[in-house]
Formats: sequence, structure tokens, C-alpha cells
Amino acid sequence: MINIKDQENLSQKKVLLRLDLNVPLKNGLITDETRIDKIVPVINFLIEKKSKIIIVSHVGRPKGEVNENLSLKPICLNLEKKINKKIKLLNDNIYELKKDDLFMSPDDQIVFLENIRFYKEEEKNETTFAKHLASLADLYVNDAFSCSHRAHASISKITEFIPSFAGLQLETEINALKKVTTEIKKPTTCIIGGSKISTKIGVIKNLIPKFDNIIIVGGMANNILSHKGNKIGKSIREEDCEIIINEIFETSKNYSCEIIYPKDVMIGKNTEGASQVKELGEIQDDDLILDIGPKTVNKIKSIIETSKTILWNGPAGYFENPNFANGSYEIAKTIIKKNKERSIYSVVGGGDTIALINQINLTQDFNFVSTAGGAFLEYLEGKELPGIKALN
Ligand code: 3PG
Repeated sequence: MINIKDQENLSQKKVLLRLDLNVPLKNGLITDETRIDKIVPVINFLIEKKSKIIIVSHVGRPKGEVNENLSLKPICLNLEKKINKKIKLLNDNIYELKKDDLFMSPDDQIVFLENIRFYKEEEKNETTFAKHLASLADLYVNDAFSCSHRAHASISKITEFIPSFAGLQLETEINALKKVTTEIKKPTTCIIGGSKISTKIGVIKNLIPKFDNIIIVGGMANNILSHKGNKIGKSIREEDCEIIINEIFETSKNYSCEIIYPKDVMIGKNTEGASQVKELGEIQDDDLILDIGPKTVNKIKSIIETSKTILWNGPAGYFENPNFANGSYEIAKTIIKKNKERSIYSVVGGGDTIALINQINLTQDFNFVSTAGGAFLEYLEGKELPGIKALN
């Protein structure tokens, strides 16, 4: 894997830069800018080298269809302000774009393509689409570690058709995660939460041999609760997870890994309303599980107290409503206390988790903050991520 910073003569070279600008949006407004902040260095680097930059990213999961709510426009405007430079957002159909038409004026230096997931070919890792993307530039740079677990056209296939390089942030992320995997101090605990159940549930089984404790919270825990025979009301869950959950518990018997999941919960009648503590046996059909309850919080705190390494990926509840943020805040506070005592090494990852710790202004109190969610977990599994493999 060669880093773009080691490449000479980038002047006037057209660089197709794959970024992960998949930031949380609410009513068209960005609610957490961390992923944008983290890629400013690579953009400034390319600007200094006088390259012409074609930014490619996705936001959300539009499933191959144009969806105005998932336009990159607000992100493009935000980045413009951060780097104090004009950026042109190209709404044209990608197939109609030609390399020589992208930078008509000598002053044009950065263009943005619209959400790459508006094209179904992207997630299919389609060859013709990837070839066309490659034809728009001289070089390709992947600075989207957090997307590198996806075998998608702008992450993986494209590298077959154009000289390809790693970006600055991608290398930083990999170096930090390498450190965690090689210099890990036991007891180790992994906390997995959030709402992207399908991305994460399959990973848990493979993490069991590597951790002393795996704590499952957030949306994924609902599947476990339901599997254990509890009612979960209207709470989010993933279909067809029975086999994988059985495997998780069966595998854990062969290793000294304890799987911890909620003993009690906080429910609401909707995401915006008030919260109420409930025992597992008390959940009603119109309840939504939106956070972990106080008994679960105490159990998790006691596990963090005895851990030497902690990896945390995904919030414990719907923290956007403060009534359901307590579980995540308590987890954050306990890790930070141990960090200050220098008795734990902590890595936190994932878009929502970063948004959460930014909300309480605590990012500097963890040893490393990764922008990656699913990619972070798959890297920990020991998998070679498709995007990294492609660069190698
Ligand atoms: C992420 O947020 O983890 C990346 O942007 C990948 O998004 P995805 O899970 O929708 O592929």
C-alpha cells in the first residue's frame, strides 16, 4: 500500500478522492462534523500539491436511487467553509461526465460528485461503472477507512483501472488499530451498540476468541432479548438472526468470553418522548426500547472498572433524545475516569459514537477516536478489508 504523500509530482494531476462523508443529517443539517474535519488534511495536502480533486462519497443508504434528502450539498457547503475554497457540486449523471470537462476554468480545483450510492452499480462493485469513474482521473486515493469494509465500485473495483494510493487519514486509522490488536492488554472488553444491526451482528462471533467480555447494547441487544424469549414491543430488530445468535452463545462457551446484554431497559412510547425504567418482563406491545436500564449500567460500569483495554463501537441508546442518553453517558464517563487514572487503553469508533462523545465534549479523553464503525469491527476480526486489499 503506497501513501499519496509519498507520491511525487502531483501538480495538475486529477485525483479521484474517495472519502467517507457519511455524516449524520437531521432535516438537511449536519449534526456531527467529525468525519469532515478528519479529511481536511488530505484536501489541503492535495491543494498544496496543485492537484485537481474529484471528491466521491456517499451519505446514507439511498439504495441505488436518487434521494434529495441524501444529497451531498450540505456537506459540500460545509467543506467549502472549512477549507475556504469554492467547490463545484456536479449533479450530472456520472456516465455523462468526461475527464476533460471537469475543470473548465484554470481556477477550478475541487469538484464533488453527487452521492455515489444514487447509482446501484456502486454497491454491486460493477466493473463498467468503476472503469468509468477511473476514466475521470489520473490517480485514485482512498481516504475512507470507514468504508473500506465495503466491496463497492468506488472503494474496491476502481483500483483495477487506475494507479491507486492510500490517503493520510486511512493510514492513521490503520496504524492506531494495529496498535490495539498487537499490543492489547488483558482483560479486554468490547462494547458494541448502535442501530446498524445487520453490519455488526455477524462480527460478534469472530470477536469472541479475542475478548474477555463482549457487551451488547443498542439496537442489536433487542435481537438478543427477543431470542431469549422477552417481548421487545415496537423496538428495532433485524429479521432472521436466530442462527447467528445461537452461534454467538455456543461459541462463547468454548472461550472464556462473557457475553453481556441488558438486564433492564429504558422504554418510550416514541423516540421524542419521556423515558421509563422497565424490567424485561414488563415490556408492552407499544413500548420502544431506547436505552439500557440502571441495573445494566451498573453491571457495565463494574466490567469497565476491571478492564485494561476497552473498544467501544455504537451507542447504548437513542442518545439524540437526552432522556435516552444516560446509558451511553455513563459508559463514556466510566471509561474516561479510568483513562485519567491511566489504567485503561480506550479506543472508540463509529459515526454515532463520535457524535455522542462530541455532544459531551469528551473526544480528547480517549486514547484513539476512529471514524470507522463497521470497518473498525471487521478489522478487529482480523479480516482483510476489501478496500485495503485493493490498495495492496
Ligand atoms: C459507516 O458509516 O460506517 C460508513 O459510511 C459505511 O456506511 P454503510 O454501513 O452504510 O456501508
